[in-house]
This record gives sequence, structure tokens and C-alpha cells, in this order.
Amino acid sequence: ALKTYCDVIVPMNDLKWEALRHERDSFDFSGADELVAFAIANKQALRGHTLLWGEALPPWVKTMSSRAEAERELIRHIEVVVDRYRGRIATWDVVNEVIRFDPREGGPYRDTIWQRLLGPEHIDIAFRTAASVDPKARLVLNDCNFEEADAGTAERRKAALAIIRRLKDKGIPVHGLGMQAHLYGENAIDSHGIQQFMRDLAALEVEVEVTELDVIDWKLPADSGTRDRASASLVAAYLDAVVSARPPKAIVTWGLSDRYTWINETFPRKDGARARPLPLDADYKPKPMMAVLGRYRRGAG
Ligand code: XIL
Repeated sequence: ALKTYCDVIVPMNDLKWEALRHERDSFDFSGADELVAFAIANKQALRGHTLLWGEALPPWVKTMSSRAEAERELIRHIEVVVDRYRGRIATWDVVNEVIRFDPREGGPYRDTIWQRLLGPEHIDIAFRTAASVDPKARLVLNDCNFEEADAGTAERRKAALAIIRRLKDKGIPVHGLGMQAHLYGENAIDSHGIQQFMRDLAALEVEVEVTELDVIDWKLPADSGTRDRASASLVAAYLDAVVSARPPKAIVTWGLSDRYTWINETFPRKDGARARPLPLDADYKPKPMMAVLGRYRRGAG
């Protein structure tokens, strides 16, 4: 299925600190190397996910206690990882989910070990280091919850624009905003808000890409046909909003088949039915969502 449907491969967990850095002084690239080799063998592009996140950290990271220590470890991590895949991983989610879910409650940045020890500068350090190791890499700020119509979402968009503006003002390279797009099935898409956001990003001269598309279908009807049609319409509404303002650099789903998805554990349904968030069902049969994505596939016109 990956060979049939995908132009881009993303290791979903194998490049996270938790996977690479069981121990402070060694790196385990076994899982990531396998996926990178698969993509290259199949002439697929790669996205690296992710160099800095407040989650999926090995226990030793949380024992760091000083600014100097955090900065040293962060820089070393990015130097080693980006250097290893230089020329192979063309795009990096340099930082992931640094914006607070609701920036009105306590400021724009998430409370993570990086923010606590380094302040907002953790973002600058990450981008600056990635750029210095691989000047040709596309460097992306990846974050979530940009698509709804509430006040918190408006603040998240403002926070993303402010981070990009700050990096640019300091001369630190940033090339794109990644929009995760874990879409809540029960909520409406804010098409006008998304389109305005796309224009604001264009004005800052950064590209956009959809990086983790899936549908959180925990509150959608049980009937699978009805549920799949609702999910496909939601994805169409979202992509239409984005594309009508500005074609994204890539559209990437978070998984491919309902057989393997994080939604079951993170957003379980009350009726116990299995989640159906992705374009292929658990038996790899295309669902209506695949037809929607097909309209936007490169070369599809
Ligand atoms: C998720 C993975 O899909 C799960 O397998 C893992 O247990 C937890 O992380 N936002 C992100 C992704 O940026 O890295 C997360 O991936 C989903 C939410």
C-alpha cells in the first residue's frame, strides 16, 4: 500500500528522542534506518519527524536541570540526527507542538522541559542548528489545531505567525508550516479562517504542508458507510479550504490503513467500535477518503 499510494514517507515514531536516545550517550538508528532505506529504494521522498518535542522523551531527558545542559543535549541531538540523514531526509519537522493548546491560558508556548530550561529560544536553537548542519534541508514548524472556528484556534494561528516572524527577523531559516490536521469529526472546518491563515503565511514567505491528516471519528455514527462518508466530506472541506487559498507543498496522512492508527488508543469510541480515521480500511480497501485525496495527488491535475 505504501508503494501504491505514497510519494512521501514519514517515520511516525522512529525518529523521536524516545526511539533514538534510550541512553544519553548512544543513538539507536535501527528503526529509522530501515524506513529511510525503504523510501529510498522506492524513490519516495522523506519527512523527518521530529527534532524537538515535549513528548516521547526518554526518562533521562527529564532529569536535565540546567540551561547549559539542555542546550548542549539539544544541539548535539540535532547535529547527529540531521547529519546522519543529510541528503536523504529533505524536510524536517524541526519543532513539534510548541504552541500551547489555548495560548490565552499562560502564554503562547507549551510547558515542556525545553521551554522550562531554555525559554522560547529553544525554537531558535533548534532551527539554527538544523540549518547549520544541512543548509539544503527544508525546515518546518509543525503544530496542531489550526482548523476550527474558536478563539483559541485564532490565538494558535497568531502564535505560529509570530514564531515564524521572529525566526525570520533573526535571520534563522524557516521554510514551512506543517499543519497536523487531526480533524475532529464532530466539529466544523473554519474555511474562511484557514484561507486567511494561508494568506498570512504566504505574506511571511513560508510554504505550508498538511502533515498528519486523519479523522478523529469517536463521535461519528457507528455505521461504517455513514462514518466513512462523513470523514471523507470533512477531509474534502479541509483540503478545499487550504488548496483554494494556496496549494500545500505536500499532503501527508498519519498512517495509511485503519489497521494501524493511534486514534483507537487516544480517542476511543464509547461503543467500542474500531476507529476508521484513514484512507484505507483495515483490509487495505480504499474508502471514500482515498478518492478525495486522489484529487490532490501530484500529477492528478
Ligand atoms: C503519535 C503516534 O502515532 C503514536 O503511535 C505514539 O504512541 C504517540 O505519538 N502529534 C504528533 C505525532 O506530532 O507524533 C503523534 O504520533 C500524534 C500527535
